[in-house]
Amino acid sequence: MPKEKASSYSVPKLGTFTGPTLDKAVAKLLAAVDAESKHLSQEREWKDFRDRWLSRNNGLLAQVNELWLKAAPKESKREVGQRVNELKKKVDYQIEDIRSRLVSRPSTGEEAGKSESDREMSKPAPDSRALDITLPGIERPLGAEHPVIKTMNEIVSVFRGLGYSVEEGPEIETDYYNFEALNFPPNHPARDTQDTLFIADQDHKPPRERLLLRTHTSPVQIRAMGKTKPPLRIVCPGKVHRNDAPDATHSPIFHQVEGLAVDTNITFSDLKGTLDYAMKTLFGSSVKTRFYPSFFPFTEPSADVQISCIFCNGAGRRDGAACRNCKASGWIELLGCGMVDPNVYSFVDYDATKVSGFAFGMGVERIAILKYGVGDIQMFFQGDVRFLQQFA
Ligand code: PHE
Repeated sequence: MPKEKASSYSVPKLGTFTGPTLDKAVAKLLAAVDAESKHLSQEREWKDFRDRWLSRNNGLLAQVNELWLKAAPKESKREVGQRVNELKKKVDYQIEDIRSRLVSRPSTGEEAGKSESDREMSKPAPDSRALDITLPGIERPLGAEHPVIKTMNEIVSVFRGLGYSVEEGPEIETDYYNFEALNFPPNHPARDTQDTLFIADQDHKPPRERLLLRTHTSPVQIRAMGKTKPPLRIVCPGKVHRNDAPDATHSPIFHQVEGLAVDTNITFSDLKGTLDYAMKTLFGSSVKTRFYPSFFPFTEPSADVQISCIFCNGAGRRDGAACRNCKASGWIELLGCGMVDPNVYSFVDYDATKVSGFAFGMGVERIAILKYGVGDIQMFFQGDVRFLQQFA
């Protein structure tokens, strides 16, 4: 903007002294201060600018006194007086602010040619960096465990207490570990892109080597049995991925804890006893469990474990109405499990005639939702501190 234009503002006479007229006039004046300030780069310019606005003789604010306050009719004087006072404070503040911004700008090579007073001006104000011990301290809140991690650790520690050790596996898996070695037949729908997120450009590889994001923690079963001879008792916590649209109960990323116990003479009642104990430890000793027939390619027989509804104590009704949490059934489905299918042992060189075992897998978010009464799985992933703080 050319200079003439920048300082072309002059204080107008006011036709009326109503609120809206004053609002407009004040806004215009402040905008002019702002616009003119943009062209300042040196102290001398700033001084001229300051005098133009604040000079007692004929500065623009002095003119405001004459043209607005003195000219105002008696009945408007009070209001106009107040407004003009406010305006003066603002302009004063703004002009001082502009000075400090000019001063704090990084110095350039021009520094050398400056007079003593120029240099004085570009020093920071003497006390701007002094320590003011009367100011309140800066609070640095402590971080806390995320509710999903907290729940996952809690589940893991229940099984560690039973003598299980912890195994982990990669999140980017091969088709072999995620499906084939777990006895998924070649055209099983779970291998479809509907559920599984495949890594791109893998077509040149043999199918079993193609990479994908693991859809469950069960491949860790295979990896663990591949490197350890029986007996084996492991839990495998970790992140899994499915091609699901996010909603209140689905998330494309979630967590599971897998369990596997292989030894001689492991029976379905060991599985039942173990999971019944784990559910009572996680949800309280009054919780009952029920094993419902189900299907997984890598376990036979397979079951879904249900726990008695923790909201209505298994009654199906609460406060005189059907319980919404268990859809009035009194049971909540929580995890999948079963006896390891003998076919799986053939992939890991275990002798299916000598060993037997069970496996289970549970969704961590689902358990956290029940334990803490969370209404929407998305809250775990939104990073809202107000939500997360509640678990600290
Ligand atoms: N992997 C199964 C799932 O994600 C759960 C499961 C694990 C079932 C172990 C049986 C045994 O649905």
